[in-house]
Amino acid sequence: MKTLILYKSKTGNTKAYAERIGEGIHGDVFPLDKFKWRNLGGYDAIVFGGWIMGNTIQGIDKFLQHWKEMATKNVFVFAVGMSLPTTESRHLLIEQNILDNYHIRFYQFQGSFDMSKLRFPYNLLIANSIRATVNSPGASPEQKALADLKDHPFVFFDNDKVERVLLVLRTLSAELDCKEAK
Ligand SMILES: Cc1cc2nc3c(=O)[nH]c(=O)nc-3n(C[C@H](O)[C@H](O)[C@H](O)COP(=O)(O)O)c2cc1C
Repeated sequence: MKTLILYKSKTGNTKAYAERIGEGIHGDVFPLDKFKWRNLGGYDAIVFGGWIMGNTIQGIDKFLQHWKEMATKNVFVFAVGMSLPTTESRHLLIEQNILDNYHIRFYQFQGSFDMSKLRFPYNLLIANSIRATVNSPGASPEQKALADLKDHPFVFFDNDKVERVLLVLRTLSAELDCKEAK
């Protein structure tokens, strides 16, 4: 099975996930903006990863513009954000990015967050958002702890979830091999 992995990354976490998936399935990995869509035909599975900003998966709109060319293939989307993936945050991402209009396998990964890697306007946007959350009346201890993020990078890479995605891809690949052998 030929697998294409595209990604949109600001500070490298989504890129790292895309590259790890690419290694695990021997796929071709490209930044979304560098991929030549005329080369899509040869792929059986397509994986897109985008970083999350304000619950919007960056690059997903551009990726889905090509849906018609991908509709008969196995399509995976993963979103990378600093927050802990929960059932609720997953539903919110699906709704806000209108993913349930498409036949897509969707995964949410937790990524690192490092304020020092951000330039204007992203550093300002996130600083304002953290300040508003920390100072909001009734902020929970977890929300108050966000204040630490400004000075202390948060590092996380979810190997287990990568393995879950790879397991699905490898199963599809084995099924395709069986079909082709018949
Ligand atoms: C302006 C801004 C908004 C963000 N909004 C969210 C968000 O809504 N949910 C979330 O989980 N993470 C959010 N993040 C955190 C990033 O998604 C996270 O750091 C991610 O690992 C970045 O991926 P990248 O390294 O591939 O760019 C935000 C970061 C910035 C800078």
